[in-house]
Amino acid sequence: MSLEIRIESGDFATSAADALAVLVSEGGFEKQPAFAHLDKALGGALAAHVSEANYRGRVDEVLDVPTLGRIAARRVILVGTGKRKVLSGARLRSSVATATRAALNTTSFAIVPGDFKSSDDVRRVAEGVGLGAYTFTKYFTGERLPKRVLGDVTVYKRGRATTADKRALDQGMAVARAVNIARDAVNEPPNVLTPEGLAEAARKVAKEGKLKITVLDEKGMAKAGMRLHLAVAQGSANPPRFIHLSYTPKRAKSKIVFVGKGLTFDSGGLCIKPAPGMGDMKTDMGGGAAVLGTMAAIAALAPNAEVHGIIAAAENMPDGNAYRPADVFTSLDGKTVEIINTDAEGRLVLADALAYARKLEPDVMIDAATLTGACLVALGKNCSAYYTADDKLSKRFRTAAEDAGEKFWRMPLLDELREQLASDIADLKHTGDRYGGSITAALFLREFVGEVPWIHCDVAGPVYADRPSGLYPKGATGHPVLTFVTFVESLAG
Ligand code: BES
Ligand code: MN
Ligand code: ZN
Repeated sequence: MSLEIRIESGDFATSAADALAVLVSEGGFEKQPAFAHLDKALGGALAAHVSEANYRGRVDEVLDVPTLGRIAARRVILVGTGKRKVLSGARLRSSVATATRAALNTTSFAIVPGDFKSSDDVRRVAEGVGLGAYTFTKYFTGERLPKRVLGDVTVYKRGRATTADKRALDQGMAVARAVNIARDAVNEPPNVLTPEGLAEAARKVAKEGKLKITVLDEKGMAKAGMRLHLAVAQGSANPPRFIHLSYTPKRAKSKIVFVGKGLTFDSGGLCIKPAPGMGDMKTDMGGGAAVLGTMAAIAALAPNAEVHGIIAAAENMPDGNAYRPADVFTSLDGKTVEIINTDAEGRLVLADALAYARKLEPDVMIDAATLTGACLVALGKNCSAYYTADDKLSKRFRTAAEDAGEKFWRMPLLDELREQLASDIADLKHTGDRYGGSITAALFLREFVGEVPWIHCDVAGPVYADRPSGLYPKGATGHPVLTFVTFVESLAG
């Protein structure tokens, strides 16, 4: 993305951008200074059109108005913010993303986000711009290629921009680029983004961000004892990879390890999934992609925290060599596991990865995985589940998710369901009953985290969206990179 962004304090009504977006709150447009100023420049045509179109300014309600030569900008885009008069924080970021998305068929775009004050909000505006400008068009040719690509964005702010503002602008764009790395990986088709393809994407992030990276192939994984991860991968012609990125600053206030499920395709294996919807399982590396995006953002922001990103990459396929129900394997930490359903592969690769992560002795360990359909049933498409036994950690995480504007709901680690994981032949069965499926998956993972404070995120729904909304475009969303980055920053001070 070669998107130039700058901050300006002049008269936005004279902007020469193709499209000029203004955030407006519900009702009483004439009393809103930005609207009134623009309406005056347009000779009252804006107010007339708004009333004609019955436009209200509800949250994310967009009105696209041609200016027909009355001002330099060819279009004015109004974006509603609902009842809130002054926007800040997560709502500001997401309204700016909506505005930017509405301007995607232009080459230059200017935005008047209202009376935002702090440079934190400048960063959020930049994040909204960078996130809203995202498209995934690399497989289009000819007619399908976009005619215009957004390359130039001006943010209008009252008063002169400070050096802190400019720094915030750069940081915001870097964070958006990092989220977009996660989106790209999820949107990429599974014949291209194989486990090695994901490792290649990680190497690129490491190189650009000067992060340390280790990638284990099957041999290295066998040596390390990752037999559950290898079991999942043994039916696939595309070999697995274990990816470990690290950011180790001189002064670190805490050590955080992220672990992501990186199933580049999940057919279900021998317990094969039904054909309808199977293609959606290219998104089954969404947790791993989020870990990659998080590491890219951390490299750019350079917080005072040691951060590791681990991605357990594999493909789950049916084959003569595939692992089967009733097989028994020994995990990295020595526990034996009886396979029940080969479609419950995510918790297996994560078990080994969490056991590995634990050895780094972090202050906190967070995993992200498109782990269960049960989570989708419980919370719907737009909200992730998180599990932790630690109330203080839970609070910190919830605050980070709120600041990020991403939806998370805490779920309980119900000890009484643990007995479902008892096996007659091994230490553990890897699945329980149908009911409470997201919880028993979390309980299985808990067996591998030891004493390390831990948060498990089941992100099965929000990593991929059926339609654009707020921060998220249609398709890969980049969830929960923003939450993870915000969480790290809260620990780094
Ligand atoms: N990747 C799926 C979970 C999933 C389903 C994510 C739909 C996103 C959308 C996971 O590997 C899986 O297949 N889980 C099984 C577990 C079951 C066999 C215990 C499930 O949820 O059905
Ligand atoms: Mn599965
Ligand atoms: Zn899966």
